[in-house]
Amino acid sequence: MSLGKSLFSRDRRASLNTSISILALAAAGLLSFAIARAALADETQVKDPGVRGGAPAAGGPLAGLTQDELTFFNAGSTTFQEAEGIGNGLGPRLNLDRCSGCHSQPGIGGSSPGVNPQPNIGTAYGARNKVPLFVKPNGPIVEARFKHFPDGSRDGGVHSLFVISGRIDSTGNASDCTAVQDNFDAQFANNNVSLRIPVPLFGDGLIEAIADSTILANLTANQAAKSRLGIGGHPNRSPNTGTITRFGWKAQNQSLLMFAGEAYNVEIGISNELFQNERDDNPTCQYAPVPNDSTVVDGSAGLPASQAVSDLERFAFFMKFLAPPVPSKTTPGGAASIAHGQQKFNDIGCSLCHTPTLQTSSVSDFAATTNVPVNLFSDLVVHKMGPKLADDIVQGQAAGDEFRTAPLWGLGQRIFFLHDGRTNDLVQAIYAHSSAGNGQYRPSEANQVIAGFNSLSDKDKQDLLNFLRSL
Ligand code: HEC
Ligand code: HEC
Repeated sequence: MSLGKSLFSRDRRASLNTSISILALAAAGLLSFAIARAALADETQVKDPGVRGGAPAAGGPLAGLTQDELTFFNAGSTTFQEAEGIGNGLGPRLNLDRCSGCHSQPGIGGSSPGVNPQPNIGTAYGARNKVPLFVKPNGPIVEARFKHFPDGSRDGGVHSLFVISGRIDSTGNASDCTAVQDNFDAQFANNNVSLRIPVPLFGDGLIEAIADSTILANLTANQAAKSRLGIGGHPNRSPNTGTITRFGWKAQNQSLLMFAGEAYNVEIGISNELFQNERDDNPTCQYAPVPNDSTVVDGSAGLPASQAVSDLERFAFFMKFLAPPVPSKTTPGGAASIAHGQQKFNDIGCSLCHTPTLQTSSVSDFAATTNVPVNLFSDLVVHKMGPKLADDIVQGQAAGDEFRTAPLWGLGQRIFFLHDGRTNDLVQAIYAHSSAGNGQYRPSEANQVIAGFNSLSDKDKQDLLNFLRSL
């Protein structure tokens, strides 16, 4: 628990500073209260049970798919795991060479593995890159957004970490490419970089099939309890269609197909039918027709549908048909502890943001995603989380301090937590929810719920952690 302790003592320093500056001497009574509270937290003996062992509880197809749907799932899974090379259009800028490299824990489609493949990809096959200092061998996998352009205006976009210059692989030769890597270490030292880790994709087809009206009805439910605890929240929406966007850490993206198009373009550098242009169109670095990936329209090729469609469609169908994680009823801690922990999770109000279940639409286009309960533990809307989590990146209607309530299903077998993967300890992930306001951002909407967590007995806290690791 040494990590947890250092966090608690940082919290204590912060609360002392605030107390002193705001309340000065008049608040001697409150101050000793703050110290008493912090001491209580310091004595906490609860422990994150850690990554749940056993076989991966995720990665297979949804139950009830037809044979044709399974064919698309399998074709998508294969493409999702394919490495791209120079001759396929890789780069000129990239974060990795395949989807499954980043989405792999605890199975294909998941989140960041414990060992980061990025340092290797940056220098593989002679590519001329310096691995940025924030890209750590022991993970998590990261992508980097810059907060501002050099002129001070907002940037917010992903800057891919590596270039292909110098790379010679079995598909092509980029030794003449003149693209030069950004200076990430300097940008990071200037506090201009905000990091994000991969979001797991299990059950995403069910999330896609939840109607906007269901999200809105859930947002207005339990209003009294939410206002009492200071919980608000609002959907992020597409500026073009006005419909609710729901994928990504800020719920910034509309659909799985759209996310696939963007990821192919941004993470791997493959231009495609949705994102037709190369992000870096440096003419010395183009080794494949642009867009790099498209549908085979020539019927004479005689391909089955799952092979004629572009990679994008295959990615989207793989994710659409990917089953949700299966929780354990008994591990860790036993069935009684897990059930009691879930009760506490509800009692103190975690569930007011982390909604246990939403229902998919009754008019979804596939039987396997129609009228299904989705046990995602999210309301799919964004909340103000305070300066401690704020990343100062604005996306659509999500401000610099706002994040989508992270779905908690699959938590049991995840390694890294929170948008930037700052911790692998659930206790720290919970405490990071609580944050006083500052000149720029309001206090976190979760403050009172976290205070409620603090006042639980050690046994109740441990049961709650066991519940989270059972998911
Ligand atoms: C270099 C690592 C990396 C690679 C490669 C990668 N992703 Fe991701 N993925 C991420 C990160 C980081 C996020 C979170 C992005 C955000 O919210 O800004 C993410 C999020 C997603 C999401 C949103 C999931 C959700 O439920 O919100 C989808 C969908 C997705 N990726 C699909 C793909 C597909 C398809 C590919 C291959 C074309 C791919 N990714 C390749 C890192 C990666
Ligand atoms: C006001 C809404 C809100 C409340 C209340 C809330 N959360 Fe969260 N939770 C979030 C948001 C938003 C995130 C994502 C924050 C980020 O990544 O920066 C999150 C992230 C998490 C994560 C990390 C998940 C991941 O994918 O990395 C865990 C674990 C978690 N919450 C548990 C809890 C528990 C336990 C409680 C109750 C003690 C709770 N939360 C209360 C909104 C909330």
